[in-house]
Amino acid sequence: MYSTKIGGIGSYVPEKEVTNKDLENVMDTSDEWIQERTGIMSRRYGKKHEETSTTMAVHAAEIAIERAGIEKEDIDFIIFATLSPDYYFPGCGVLLQREMGITNTEIGALDIRNQCSGFIYALSVGDQFIKTGMYKNILVVGAEMHSMGLDFTTRGRNVTVIFGDGAGAVVLQRSTEEGQGILTTHLHSDGTYAEKLAMINPGAHGGYHANKMGEHIDYGYPDTEYGEMFINHQMIDHAQLYPQMEGQFVFKLAVQKFPEVIGEALKKTGLQTSDIDMFVPHQANLRISQFVQRRLGLKNEQVWNNIQKYGNTTAASIPIALCEAWESGAVKPGDLVCLAAFGSGFTWGSVLIRW
Ligand code: COA
Repeated sequence: MYSTKIGGIGSYVPEKEVTNKDLENVMDTSDEWIQERTGIMSRRYGKKHEETSTTMAVHAAEIAIERAGIEKEDIDFIIFATLSPDYYFPGCGVLLQREMGITNTEIGALDIRNQCSGFIYALSVGDQFIKTGMYKNILVVGAEMHSMGLDFTTRGRNVTVIFGDGAGAVVLQRSTEEGQGILTTHLHSDGTYAEKLAMINPGAHGGYHANKMGEHIDYGYPDTEYGEMFINHQMIDHAQLYPQMEGQFVFKLAVQKFPEVIGEALKKTGLQTSDIDMFVPHQANLRISQFVQRRLGLKNEQVWNNIQKYGNTTAASIPIALCEAWESGAVKPGDLVCLAAFGSGFTWGSVLIRW
């Protein structure tokens, strides 16, 4: 068995900065409300019609590959985590391969649809392939172009103000040094509350889940014998094509699951909270991160938060924050780094890395 090290890391955020004040101009919200509830001051939005989750991922991936000291043709597997893919299908993995000009068809490309915990899941999957000796260099990216799919009216304010665009990437590499790199990964899911944080249209559900739960929401499906559409006029007219979230419900579970899953990783490795040099939580909400920090008894310098600048970038948030922490020198060789995420699904997980 090999171990998996982070060979290189890179990130990219688009140039356009959108402050809370900017959002005040398009919806009924306030800088004060957003900062108080989430800690967010601004976020970045990709350039419309030019940037996508894939193009942002390319920037991050190129940096990670260069820092890993390899060529793009050395990549033998791509794992792409996103909830805002360029296309419904095919996934962003193959688009990334094409955009990067990787012509090697011996490689595989996999998309991961696990939203906020997408990067944790992606790391875990990549780790298994490296450990077993199947691959040597795996490109793992998390990228989101949220701004293309949010409701910029007051109706969507509870969701829209939280999210931002960006991308992060790592190259996972084979290592023969024991005790280095990814020490353990822990994944969880509970589909009971799938709709509490979801974007259910466009989709092939045909109203099934809502009807089953007795909600009987009218999605305007035509009454024809054959043929339905993922998307129809009613969905557009009734704003049924945006993410939906029961914020307080999500908050309560998140603050419970983060410490649980981190504790699980520490127990597995025989380590203590005090052994953690840097905790990089998924940047869901600064208040969630602060709550978890208090529960774990970590000092400010042991936790990396950047949601203030970038908002919640879902699958991209952990690699962007980890990259920033590493670039600033706050993550050094030998450090114990803890990553954890909770989000839509619900799915959650943790990873411990000896850097
Ligand atoms: N600006 C101003 N007011 C807003 C608003 C906004 N952007 N969004 C919602 N409100 C209003 C609501 O309409 C509501 O008004 P009302 O009391 O008149 O009905 C009031 O603020 C409180 O809404 P509520 O949704 O209860 O707020 P909250 O205190 O729960 O905070 C979140 C909302 C989303 C910030 C918070 O629940 C949260 O962060 N949850 C976790 C979400 C998360 O992490 N999601 C990502 C998962 S990984």
